[in-house]
Amino acid sequence: MFENIKWSRGDKVLEFGGGTGYNAYKWILPQVQKWEGDLVSLDISNTMVEYARKTWPHPRIQHICADILAEDDKLEKQLDGRLFDKIFSTFVLHQVHDIRNTLCRLQGLLNPGGVFGFICFTNKNFYFRATRIIAQMEKWKECFNGYESIIASWTTFEGKDHGENMLRNLMHECGFQVKTLEILDRSCYFDDIEVFLDLLLAINQFLHRLPEKKKQELKNDYHKLLTEIEETNTDSKDFMFKYELLYAVIEKPEVF
Ligand SMILES: C[S@@+](CC[C@H](N)C(=O)[O-])C[C@H]1O[C@@H](n2cnc3c(N)ncnc32)[C@H](O)[C@@H]1O
Repeated sequence: MFENIKWSRGDKVLEFGGGTGYNAYKWILPQVQKWEGDLVSLDISNTMVEYARKTWPHPRIQHICADILAEDDKLEKQLDGRLFDKIFSTFVLHQVHDIRNTLCRLQGLLNPGGVFGFICFTNKNFYFRATRIIAQMEKWKECFNGYESIIASWTTFEGKDHGENMLRNLMHECGFQVKTLEILDRSCYFDDIEVFLDLLLAINQFLHRLPEKKKQELKNDYHKLLTEIEETNTDSKDFMFKYELLYAVIEKPEVF
């Protein structure tokens, strides 16, 4: 995505939801350096921003802690009134529930002719489906309170064409022209199913609420669901994790 987009000298770039800062440093920075631009990497989590500042410092990167949906004047102040030529976000938008306001906000942060490129998960993968089931089980309800924040309902693309058209229309309504919009089928092979199950626990943001001894039970429940939802053989040692990605590049027209 970062290489395929047309760059210009001095481009001002915003990364929305920068997380650990790895993406900004490893993938966006090389282009920013090449085009002598600069990069603001923004995240709502202060812990993430502190980590990114410490781990991936660079004179061309500024790490800012801010909510992309903060009130207009607050965000404007945090960004020193800057507008951008490019905005990128990777694996953020599936957590964003108010997609309309987010797209409108990002459109407002772009210069005319600027582009927003993003990639995120859709709703359709084992982790999200299983987590929804587990979160509603009596024994896990308390631990998973607020699980809805993990995955936004707008990323459901059951009828792909219908889902894509709805999103295209929304993007137009928010003042974007759609350059690329694709739903990509992807998979990741795990030769040890245990590693996959450990990963599910590792990325679970509610896990700290569970006592140590309950974690194995949770892992077992995910394993049980693997055999039910994905029809994986109970004795299977390996696992193919299949998922969809939504990939888009959208542009704010020169004249809007
Ligand atoms: C799953 S992480 C992805 C991090 C990184 N982009 C990557 O690909 O590794 C999502 C990040 O988006 C941030 N985020 C979520 N909502 C946000 C918001 N409203 N404003 C700014 N950042 C937000 C979260 O704090 C988190 O660090």
